[in-house]
Amino acid sequence: MDICIVGAGYVGLTTAALLAELGHSIHCIDKDISKIKLLNEGKSPIHEPGLEELLRKNQQNGKLIFSDDREACFLNAPILLIAVGTPSKPNGDTKLTALKSVFEQISRNISSHKLIIIKSTVPPSTNEWLHQYLIKSGVDATLFDIVSNPEFLREGSAVYDSFHPDKIVIGSSSASAIETVKKIYEKLNAPFIETSLTGAELMKYASNAFLATKISFINEFSRICDQYGVDINEISTSIGMDPRIGPHFLQSGLGYGGSCFPKDLDALGYAARKRRIKTDILRAVKKVNEDQVDYYINKLDKEIHGLKGKQITVWGLTFKPNTDDTRESQSVKLCEKLLQRGCSVVTYDPKVQTSRLPIEFATNMYQAAKYSHALIVATDWQQFTSPDWLKVKKAMIGNTILDGRNCLDRAEVNAAGLNYVGVGRS
Ligand code: UDX
Repeated sequence: MDICIVGAGYVGLTTAALLAELGHSIHCIDKDISKIKLLNEGKSPIHEPGLEELLRKNQQNGKLIFSDDREACFLNAPILLIAVGTPSKPNGDTKLTALKSVFEQISRNISSHKLIIIKSTVPPSTNEWLHQYLIKSGVDATLFDIVSNPEFLREGSAVYDSFHPDKIVIGSSSASAIETVKKIYEKLNAPFIETSLTGAELMKYASNAFLATKISFINEFSRICDQYGVDINEISTSIGMDPRIGPHFLQSGLGYGGSCFPKDLDALGYAARKRRIKTDILRAVKKVNEDQVDYYINKLDKEIHGLKGKQITVWGLTFKPNTDDTRESQSVKLCEKLLQRGCSVVTYDPKVQTSRLPIEFATNMYQAAKYSHALIVATDWQQFTSPDWLKVKKAMIGNTILDGRNCLDRAEVNAAGLNYVGVGRS
């Protein structure tokens, strides 16, 4: 099928690679010309394992093209898949500027039937609103169908996730549109969930809100474990064996970050407030996550008898491993707070070499530990989980290692003469 994908961000690019690989003809457009130029040189603008290779392969075999020519793309393709950004406003509301601009252009150019698939995460009832927008703009209702088809992929494993989804959610009031979307994905081995436009939107929010709730639950519980001298990892393993709970998203640590959880929780909270619904759980989930960085910093403060004037090494700046994304990263917040408490910060991240913060970047992880009073593992990149601790010990002035992701082996750390500090692992 001929599909025009609007937006070459994480979701747009991964979907472009997936659909081209499934045999469809994909024209992916983005208004950012520098991004298009890079893509046409065979390079991916984002770091995502396996993505660049897949994009290049499909560009070479003619299944995938990139351009900034929105008009031509809109005119020719019968299927438009929209994956533009929907960032947050400071009050939690969602900025729909990019989406509205796409719909404005569709309303002006539409002359043949378009199936419009919305991948972007949007607040409940946005897709219904977009449907009405086209009608009010004078577009004949028989000329288009809208489908909400949210994405559940994780950064760092986006390519794998898009080929192995646990379900494909298709929300629409049009049975024929749902059938076409099913055909697009028919080669994937995943169940289809058919629902309404708003049902699909809410499934996405419910999923992210629930996952974030699991993380904040286990993080709050780790503070309780701290007081009772019990290992939170044992608790996670134990409760995770109960199939009603499940083992995933019970890894305690500095808390969640990234482009989805914080934004989606805010958007859901805002939407609920607008309808006068109290969302106590959502508020608590957010509060636990915000407090988590302070909890770690206070623990370190106690351990090394004051932070002011100390040099702290932070390993990892990205919000999770295997990505170059630092959006809403708890590690960045940690660095910010350490600076506010009078520390100097030296950092190393395999994928990030710059920051808006006045922190020093070392050329490698051991260099970053040099002359530091304490070291914090803030992102669980694999290389940080079992380093040469003797080398670390030699480099440091102090001996405290704060495990911000509960990913270290206490015995290995202690064996090198270092002092392991974790939360919920005392
Ligand atoms: C998430 C959802 O998983 C995905 O379905 C959705 O489409 C977009 O948002 P992503 O943001 O890429 O994906 O990352 P994810 O792997 O879910 O992790 C989010 C954050 O939670 C990271 O900061 C991670 O470190 C943290 N996390 C995750 C924990 O602290 N503990 C866990 O057990 C799991």
